[in-house]
Order: sequence, then C-alpha cells, then structure tokens
Amino acid sequence: MRVSKSKCDITFTKNSSSMNSRYRILSLMFLLFSMTFFACEHEPSVTINGNNGGGNGNGNGNNSLPPCDPDTVYFEQDILPLFVSNCTMSGCHNSNSHASGIDLSSYAAVMNSSVLIPGQAWNSDLVDAITTTNPNDIMPPPPMSALPSAQINLIKKWINQGALDLHCDNGCDTTNVTYNGTIKPLLQNKCTGCHNASSAGGGYNLTNYADDANGNLGVQSSALNGSLSGSVHYTGTWSHMPKGGSQLPACELTKIRIWVDAGAPNN
Ligand code: HEC
Repeated sequence: MRVSKSKCDITFTKNSSSMNSRYRILSLMFLLFSMTFFACEHEPSVTINGNNGGGNGNGNGNNSLPPCDPDTVYFEQDILPLFVSNCTMSGCHNSNSHASGIDLSSYAAVMNSSVLIPGQAWNSDLVDAITTTNPNDIMPPPPMSALPSAQINLIKKWINQGALDLHCDNGCDTTNVTYNGTIKPLLQNKCTGCHNASSAGGGYNLTNYADDANGNLGVQSSALNGSLSGSVHYTGTWSHMPKGGSQLPACELTKIRIWVDAGAPNN
C-alpha cells in the first residue's frame, strides 16, 4: 500500500480486494445514497443563497449591500481615509515607501503589516503608535499633530470589531448640504491630515473656513478659486485629491459640487 494515498483510498483498496462484486454494488449504492442524502441536507442553504441572488438580480450591485449600521466601523469608508490622510504620504507608510515595513494604503496591505491583532485594540502596535505620549514614538510624528481622540477611538473600535473589511450602502442625502454639517467633517476625515497649519499641502490649510495666519488658503478660498472642486473631481490641471488615495465616492463629490455651486457659504 502506498503511503502517498489518502486515508480513504487506503481503506477502500483494502476492502475491495476482499470484496465480491455484490458487496461492491451494495457499497456503491450506499455511497450514492449518502451523496444524495448530503445533497438534500445542504439544500436549504443553497436555496437561501439563491434567494439572495434573486435580490441582486432585481437591482444594481449596490442594492445588495446592507444599509450602514451606525455602530459598525467600515474600513474603506471610515478607516482608510484616516490612514491615507495621516500615514501614507511620501516617505511614510505607502506601497512605495512602507517605512518600517508598514504599508497602510489598502486593506490587504494593512492586514499584511503586522500592526494589529483583530479584536484586540489594546494589544495592537498601531494603537500604541497613535496613543503613546513619547514624542519619539508617536505617529504621525511631529510636527504633525496627534490624531484627534474621535479618530483614535474609531480605529480602536474597528480593530475590536475584528478589523474587518465590511461594506454598506449609506444612501446619498444631498439635501441640506452645509459647511459645518457636511463639508467640514468630510474634509476632516479625508484631507486635513495633509492640509493643516503645520503641514499645508500646496499652501492649503483646510481645517478652517478662512485662510490662516500664515497665509495658507482656507476652505472658502479653495472653493472660490476652483481648486477644491477641481482637485476632487479630477478636472482641469489641478492635482488629484486626496493625494495618493482613490477618488472620493460619487455622493461626496456631489455634495462638494452643490456647496461650491451655492457660493461656498459658511453655514
Ligand atoms: C496624503 C496627503 C494629502 C491628502 C490626503 C490630501 N491632500 Fe491635497 N495636497 C497634498 C499636497 C502634498 C499638495 C500639493 C500639491 C501636490 O503635491 O500635488 C496638495 C494640494 C492640494 C490642492 C491644490 C491643488 C493644486 O493643483 O494646486 C487642493 C485644492 C487640495 N490639495 C485639496 C485636497 C482635498 C479637498 C483633499 C481631501 C479630499 C486633499 N487635498 C487630500 C496632499 C494631500
């Protein structure tokens, strides 16, 4: 008997040598019966999948996503923008530079960088790095400022929820687009890591509506000179923003366009 054969093969060969043909037919029938039996057992789950598939067929792909749950953290929409804005700039943690072997530019790259333990924020190097008070170790390093605690808590929550790559459909409500309720939080989430007082990419500090004391342009100026819309919509000769990230979702682009078209009010 050959060692390389699987356990099943071994048993079968051994039995078949001592089996007469009637036993073989009987065991074949038993095999067929058990296959049918298992097929039946699995049928309910196949049907359930089939029902979901039917749902997909009725609408477009997005309709199959569950609605966003406010208590769940979604990597692509909640966490990746923070990493892109604060960690993946040139020389830091992107797929070209991957400082210290760490690349935070995509879900796969994050998970391959050994910076976290799913379910255990308190045991994760990533959390240590953004929460330490030691100026030699903290990320992002000075002169960049530490992440606001709301963002730190979101990252911890995401890790504690298993560091998953979940997706959801958050609809697109373009009524009541305001600076304070819509545009400011969006920029805070996706842009101000690279556009703040200490690091104002291209001379833009997007943390405030007005220009800052150092002459960096604020959000209003960026909206009025066309750079805000142009850079996120990839139009004209403006640099594409967020730099190094993928284009903003259509819903956010629409909100920015609506607000800029309304004259970029400070509302
Ligand atoms: C990873 C860092 C980074 C992120 C994130 C980022 N920017 Fe920039 N941005 C820069 C840098 C650096 C420049 C300077 C020009 C260049 O290098 O392309 C710049 C330039 C700009 C400019 C001037 C463009 C031009 O052609 O003159 C605008 C406007 C701008 N960014 C808006 C945004 C907005 C809005 C977001 C968020 C949606 C954003 N940026 C996110 C780094 C970033």
